[in-house]
Amino acid sequence: MRTSHKINTEEKNLVKLKVRNMKLRCIECGREYPIDEVRYRCDCGDLLEVVHDLNDLDAENLRELFDKRWGSMQFPYNSGVWRYKELILDVDDKFIVSKPEGNTNLYRAGKAGEYAGVKRMFLKHEGENPTASFKDRGMTCGVTAAKMLGCKKVACASTGNTSASMAAYASIAGMEAIVFIPEGKIAFGKLAQALAYGAKTLQIEGNFDDAMQLVQQVCSELNIYLLNSINPFRIEGQKAIAFEILQQLNWEVPDWFVLPGGNLGNNSALSKALRELYEIGIIDKIPRIAVIQAHGANPLYRMWKNKTPFKPVQAETIATAVKIGNPVSWKKSIRGLKWSNGVVEEVSEQEIMDAKAMIDRAGIGAEPASCCTVAGTKKLVEAGIINKDDLVVGILTGNLLKDPDSVVNYHLSRLKGIKSTYANRPIKIKATVKAAKQALIES
Ligand code: F0G
Repeated sequence: MRTSHKINTEEKNLVKLKVRNMKLRCIECGREYPIDEVRYRCDCGDLLEVVHDLNDLDAENLRELFDKRWGSMQFPYNSGVWRYKELILDVDDKFIVSKPEGNTNLYRAGKAGEYAGVKRMFLKHEGENPTASFKDRGMTCGVTAAKMLGCKKVACASTGNTSASMAAYASIAGMEAIVFIPEGKIAFGKLAQALAYGAKTLQIEGNFDDAMQLVQQVCSELNIYLLNSINPFRIEGQKAIAFEILQQLNWEVPDWFVLPGGNLGNNSALSKALRELYEIGIIDKIPRIAVIQAHGANPLYRMWKNKTPFKPVQAETIATAVKIGNPVSWKKSIRGLKWSNGVVEEVSEQEIMDAKAMIDRAGIGAEPASCCTVAGTKKLVEAGIINKDDLVVGILTGNLLKDPDSVVNYHLSRLKGIKSTYANRPIKIKATVKAAKQALIES
């Protein structure tokens, strides 16, 4: 497969990027490429990342700038991504495609925190983004890059959230969206979004890993811009979760960040963001990162736990968003775990759904994959790795309404192999006051 390609563009020449002090660099061999070249991999085959020149950035000035923009109603600083544009993609505003995203709540975890066993826990709800998942932060940046490069067609493989997000942003930017999804294996809310926003939706006979392989080949052969998190601009936008959380904590650095791991882009972005803030001098320590995988989709956990080379697995889990056996960003993820003295944990289907019931009942709510966060925190507290007194920030990646089937089936005790420990069953009654009274007394 080619490692770089031309893209379909109306203009003969690519729009020259007006981007300050940025380049692409291979995470393995260090080879550098210009930022306006369409490529996702180095010639050596490894992943690329965006490198910023951080030398001319002053910590004090930058923090002041970000704080001044907080609450702005003005484009593009009304976005919780573009507020930090100097550390993401310092580009002319005319290219920016924004919904606007971010500005999501950082909740006190309440009952969910008690369940996890920590005294000070916050949950950052990335399901409150415009298309209801954390993907919007990376996507605004990815689609902006596509616009700068003059692309007219964009594509991704997805377990559902990336495709929903890409479909929406592509539509706003006037681009054609093509999504590759595993047939019958994505949550209904997500499929509905891709169709509704007008993406050409290819349901492939295969799983997400097959779709990921296929989309890379198709993009390369048909000169379509690839918007999976292998695209280094996606990772840049995703970094804004860390920036926004720290700003919401008035720049107090938590002891832990806990988040689910699937294709492993999000935790790679988080560690990159924290390292850059540390290098600039905005924070004086790097928090520890805990990546939580579903037991049935745990290649990073196996590698980390057994200290063995990376080996893909056949993935199966109720948390369909992270049903991924061969994650593309595992190398970036491992590097980030080293930077942050991080850990990897796995959780069972039962642990995911019980934690989900707790997060939902706390009035916060999230889709199953997100709930690895609380399930994993609980396990790490019980193992003595996270301290009860630590300040913990868990990231909830997707909205409860993305996957209503999992909710209803849990509460109706219809999930095979999973006990509905905290079921809240609906009660069927006749339409009379008497029947209502009786039901209320009995329940
Ligand atoms: N949580 C949710 C809700 C997700 O949709 C995903 C990934 C993850 C966690 C894992 O994040 O891949 O960065 O480690 N969903 C992708 C998709 C793969 O296609 O929507 P990751």
